[in-house]
Amino acid sequence: MSADKLMYIGGEWVESNSGQDFESDNPATGEVLGTVPRGNADDIAAAVAAAKHAFPAWRDTPPDERGRWLLKIAEALREHAEQLAVVLAKESGHYLGKAQGLVEFTAQNVEFHAGLADKARGASIPTGPGRLAITRLEPVGVSGHIVPWNYPLFLITRSVAPAIALGNTAVIKPAEQTPLMAIALAEVIDEVGLPAGVFNVVTGFGEEAGAPLAAHPDVGSITFTGSVETGQLVMKAASAHMAKLTLELGGKTPVIVFPDVDVEVAAEVAMQGILSRCGQVCIAGSRLLLHDDIHDQVVERLVERFSQAKLGNTLDPDTQMGPLISQEQLERVEQYVEIGKQEGAELLVGGARPSDPELQKGYFYLPTLFGNVTSGMRIAQEEIFGPVLAVMRWSDEDEMIRQANDSPYGLAAAIWCKDITSAMRTATRLEAGGVFVNEWIGEDFKAPHGGYKLSGIGRENGFECIEHYTEVKHIAISLEAEKAENWCDAPL
Ligand code: NAI
Ligand code: MG
Repeated sequence: MSADKLMYIGGEWVESNSGQDFESDNPATGEVLGTVPRGNADDIAAAVAAAKHAFPAWRDTPPDERGRWLLKIAEALREHAEQLAVVLAKESGHYLGKAQGLVEFTAQNVEFHAGLADKARGASIPTGPGRLAITRLEPVGVSGHIVPWNYPLFLITRSVAPAIALGNTAVIKPAEQTPLMAIALAEVIDEVGLPAGVFNVVTGFGEEAGAPLAAHPDVGSITFTGSVETGQLVMKAASAHMAKLTLELGGKTPVIVFPDVDVEVAAEVAMQGILSRCGQVCIAGSRLLLHDDIHDQVVERLVERFSQAKLGNTLDPDTQMGPLISQEQLERVEQYVEIGKQEGAELLVGGARPSDPELQKGYFYLPTLFGNVTSGMRIAQEEIFGPVLAVMRWSDEDEMIRQANDSPYGLAAAIWCKDITSAMRTATRLEAGGVFVNEWIGEDFKAPHGGYKLSGIGRENGFECIEHYTEVKHIAISLEAEKAENWCDAPL
């Protein structure tokens, strides 16, 4: 029996060599949305071969023309925005309004990276009067992209758009929770007519399809977003053939609130940080560091407002917060809530699944607030990836910095503070790849994104991503008349 949707390899829609399919479900309802092929190492090999075959012609396509292909893809994303947003809402649990915004964000992301195609450039290096030394940025070849389920559309383009803009071809392994989103994107790209083999999608599970992609000797660069444990496996696999590697592995973002901030504003931003996308965001503001002077007032508002958040079907216009992605993720959140209680944190609100039987068909969990959290607790140290906020208090600035940096992660940090000197002093002292001051930026693809410590290696977005998708070639040319040195006097 054929799967409902097929994978996309070398411009063709294909079944898996495994002969097996798997289901993708709606996390808000438990309903099966469709079946897709269960890709394996043979399918990865076929996709890498297709990408390798397509590479020379794509590399040699004039850069402005490559950029125009990406602009066409961005336009097509907009033309199909409504249908893509529905897939995103149904399969990954973003409520529809958010999903629509994310499709537009994705189109803009593709446009930004389109511009890199003919703007990423090398340098000329002053090595002395007798020589012209230049660098040339060349594409790496086949790029591999292992993508998670939390932003299953945007996170494909975040890495694939710069990769193909810069002349690489791409093999994508979407998360097993969200294969239909990747296929929907492939349908748009197929309709645009991008040359066959430039963009390939193999649907499947991590160990069966992700691992062989990371280990494939013809894959020159790997971009991975997901858990630390899997990131470490990918890194090991990539080391066998020295693939370039970008790892974005999540975090434990501190949201630091100074005493000069309005308590209503503080409550709003705390909610934005942790409840948007149900806490399943790499940069989720999962630690709230409140100054003593406003601590009680902000907590009081949060208790009230957490209990008012509207959970519901992602297609319902009233919904403010969707479900967790899976039963596995739900159980993980439940376990952490138990851990928090055992550690002595005070459960202030939430801490359970909603009682509505309609919501119990999906993987919903109530917005959950823990007070009296101390930095050493596991709920303050480990990434929960759910709507669970750990509140800590501070009075001394040095102590607050120590708390904020007391984390194995270092992806992002947020500061709310009217006094510019305190805000900027704090920003420079935090161990984080991104610091937002008085604004919950989330992610801006024009600026670099990536983490310190366990949060990963390398930077995506901005001009910083160029390094990952190009090799730097140094070409040294003598400007002097032909001359031969005594062979044994060679400088090295
Ligand atoms: P995961 O890291 O296992 O999965 C992410 C991607 O890696 C998926 O496409 C998966 O199929 C693939 N994968 C899994 N095992 C692999 C392997 N051995 N080799 C190559 N690829 C493999 O993350 P998972 O299980 O979905 O979620 C677990 C936790 O990871 C979450 O609770 C959260 O803490 C973190 N996470 C962080 C994300 C972020 O945005 N940084 C995104 C998703 C998860
Ligand atoms: Mg996993």
